[in-house]
Amino acid sequence: MRCIACGATPDSAGQNFRCAACGDLLEFFFPGWTAGSPVLDSAALKALWLSRRTSRDALDQSGVWRFRELLPHIPKQHAITLGEGNTPLYRLPRCARAAGVENLHAKHQGMNPTASFKDTGMTFAASSAHQGKFRWVACASTGNTSASMAAYAARGNMHSLVLIPEGKISWGKLSQALDYGALTCQLRTDFDGCVRILNDLVRQKPVCLLNSVNPYRIEGQKTAAIELLEQLAWEPPDHIIVPGGNLGNSSAIGKALLEMRELKLISRLPKLSIIQAHGANPFYRSVREFGGKRLEPMTADTLATAIRIGSPASWKKALRVLQATGGEVEQVTEVEIAVAKAEIGADGIGCEPASAVTLAGLKKLRRSGFVKPGESVVLILTGHLLKDPDFTIKFHRGDLFAGTPEETEAAQAKHLQRAPLVLDADLGAVIATLDAAEKNS
Ligand code: F0G
Repeated sequence: MRCIACGATPDSAGQNFRCAACGDLLEFFFPGWTAGSPVLDSAALKALWLSRRTSRDALDQSGVWRFRELLPHIPKQHAITLGEGNTPLYRLPRCARAAGVENLHAKHQGMNPTASFKDTGMTFAASSAHQGKFRWVACASTGNTSASMAAYAARGNMHSLVLIPEGKISWGKLSQALDYGALTCQLRTDFDGCVRILNDLVRQKPVCLLNSVNPYRIEGQKTAAIELLEQLAWEPPDHIIVPGGNLGNSSAIGKALLEMRELKLISRLPKLSIIQAHGANPFYRSVREFGGKRLEPMTADTLATAIRIGSPASWKKALRVLQATGGEVEQVTEVEIAVAKAEIGADGIGCEPASAVTLAGLKKLRRSGFVKPGESVVLILTGHLLKDPDFTIKFHRGDLFAGTPEETEAAQAKHLQRAPLVLDADLGAVIATLDAAEKNS
């Protein structure tokens, strides 16, 4: 491991996974890698990874452990897997038209075992906690990390402690943590407040911190990008677009892209762009207003509760990959998020609100000219549609923005709303409704 700021290389990480010398974040690096060496020959790696798809071994079948040559070593007996990764890459024809690009795909990380991208990092970090003989693992979360951690802890016979902001996470996510057996504490604060408490807790109690400051999380999440490139026959897209919250995911995907280029698995880098919600935009402001020199924490607010984060831990890592790949930052409004989410749904795919910032951001990047019509684009959809059904139902009933300052702007979403109809149990009524719908279609 190496500190991202001062370059110190500690033999082991402390409980908070921060550099003992300067307090910044740690990352894994691989000094033994030289492209063309017999162990890491790019053609041999590609063939090996492909061959594992037909293996009956549980680790080979995991879309994370299948790529273990690019991850730190964790002995097999500690591996906790739920068959994560192996997520589909979908073409999005209607969204492509809405955004004004020809070639648009979504890599749907919501198709993981607990229905979010967190599983790819969690399988790896929970396994490292198991290797470290921890009885307890813990995280602060806006919901998806806690659901994922609780599941992997249960599978690995560890106890899990979840700190979540009271009233600000979706029921789908909370119910997962409960069912998987986590000790779940709803704190009267926001996500950033939960992080502060957890950082103090790990100094006093022998719990393993499984937030994305834990560099094992980042390593596991790298595999989403590796798998994506494999699905594209190692032909990089021009753009990859991700939502930005705590900024672990963008850091991980960017790290994978840089490492894949170093190992000559790909010949050029896609541009990695990061999109935030307008009300939770500290990274956008850091880049646009302060040239990435500093980040001012803020009180965050957005209906996309997964990314309601005002002080992102991994902002320096994300900045580095943004600059290295030549990507862009963007921010999108609440109504833009809701419209984009409905459009992704109308393509027969769907996602949770935080994931939809990618399509909303793409539209802006097209308008600014950063993305050209003929360029290929992949959106990373981070969570499943069913994570936050409340948002979806309110949107379709027209209630999402009722009585809010966005009410007028929300009129542009009307054509996407499909409120359920309540009818008498009468064949004639159903046929009349069907005929009217056919006429308007
Ligand atoms: N999308 C979803 C659905 C998320 O749950 C998150 C983060 C993000 C995007 C942002 O990813 O933090 O790596 O930049 N959710 C965390 C959680 C914070 O606790 O579940 P990021």
